[in-house]
Amino acid sequence: MENHINVIKRREFLKSSAKVTAATMLMGIGSSKLFAFSFAPLKNSVPAVTLNNGILMPRLGFGTNTLKGAMGTQSVSDAISVGYRLIDTAHIYGNEEAVGEGIKQSGIDRKELFITSKLWVDFAGYESTKKAFETSINKLGTEYLDLYLIHRPRGDVKGTWLAMEELYKAGKIRAIGVSNFLPDQLNDMMEYAKITPAINQIETHVFFQENNSYEFLKNSETQMEAWSPFAAGRNGIFENQTLAEIGKKYNKSNAQVSLRWHYQRGVVAIPRSSQKAHMIENLDIFNFELSETDMKTIATLDLNKTQFPEWG
Ligand SMILES: NC(=O)c1ccc[n+]([C@@H]2O[C@H](COP(=O)([O-])OP(=O)(O)OC[C@H]3O[C@@H](n4cnc5c(N)ncnc54)[C@H](OP(=O)(O)O)[C@@H]3O)[C@@H](O)[C@H]2O)c1
Repeated sequence: MENHINVIKRREFLKSSAKVTAATMLMGIGSSKLFAFSFAPLKNSVPAVTLNNGILMPRLGFGTNTLKGAMGTQSVSDAISVGYRLIDTAHIYGNEEAVGEGIKQSGIDRKELFITSKLWVDFAGYESTKKAFETSINKLGTEYLDLYLIHRPRGDVKGTWLAMEELYKAGKIRAIGVSNFLPDQLNDMMEYAKITPAINQIETHVFFQENNSYEFLKNSETQMEAWSPFAAGRNGIFENQTLAEIGKKYNKSNAQVSLRWHYQRGVVAIPRSSQKAHMIENLDIFNFELSETDMKTIATLDLNKTQFPEWG
């Protein structure tokens, strides 16, 4: 019964998504600021996905949680130097300044980057969202964000989303989305949202495949993005024998098999690393393909539960 309701709700969601997406695209074309960077090509080897408003997003990026201070700056600068263009940060990581400095040190043209930040729960609400956004871009040293997400579905989500829609329309953000939203919470948003979230960034990895959200998002206008694509190393992912057996066939590591699995599922992933060798290794996933049998074998690793119960 619950599934049936979900299907119906999702259909309604999709109907409104299609309408809103079309409207959003027209709006993007009408706005000179948005138009100016809407079609900037991504000049690196990472394939891109087209989001629901027509902008391109790299399908593999760089996560920065816990990478703070000088180490954060060095890691971001290293990541850009080896080819990452999508950089994921958040107010709550306490590293937006360090990330901004890393971007500056990389010397890369801002237009080539795709910078994501997130609104923390303490700032939920219309006015506080606008202020928090300004604080984030000032810390990052950028005039606009490529993607701004509601970090968690807490507090005044409606007021937050309205503020984000206005920032988007003003050309200050190229795409807006959410994080840690369940399908029902996305459905609830569509009661008032004029713009369909471009992204839902959620915990997903081989041990938590989130098949319910995966199916829901696959059939919606909202792109799924994986946080902790390696489960932050938990549950022995880098030593897992099943992944190692698969990797042996292609001369790839467990990390690479995991990222390739995300990629073949059509999920954007943002692995973090403080080591340049790992950053390079994690980018080297576009020259092999997991077979259907490999994908089915990896499906059996699903424990269908979070690896971060402490964040519940
Ligand atoms: N929206 C949200 O609520 C939310 C929540 C959590 C995270 N995130 C985002 O998702 C990003 C990624 O998640 P995460 O930081 O939790 O962890 P993760 O990317 O799943 O895993 C990071 C860990 O993997 C190790 N690692 C990376 N590449 C490796 C390789 N090739 N071989 C062996 N070990 C490797 C890293 O160690 P080394 O440094 O030694 O390489 C680090 O310990 C975050 O940084 C953040 O941007 C979002």
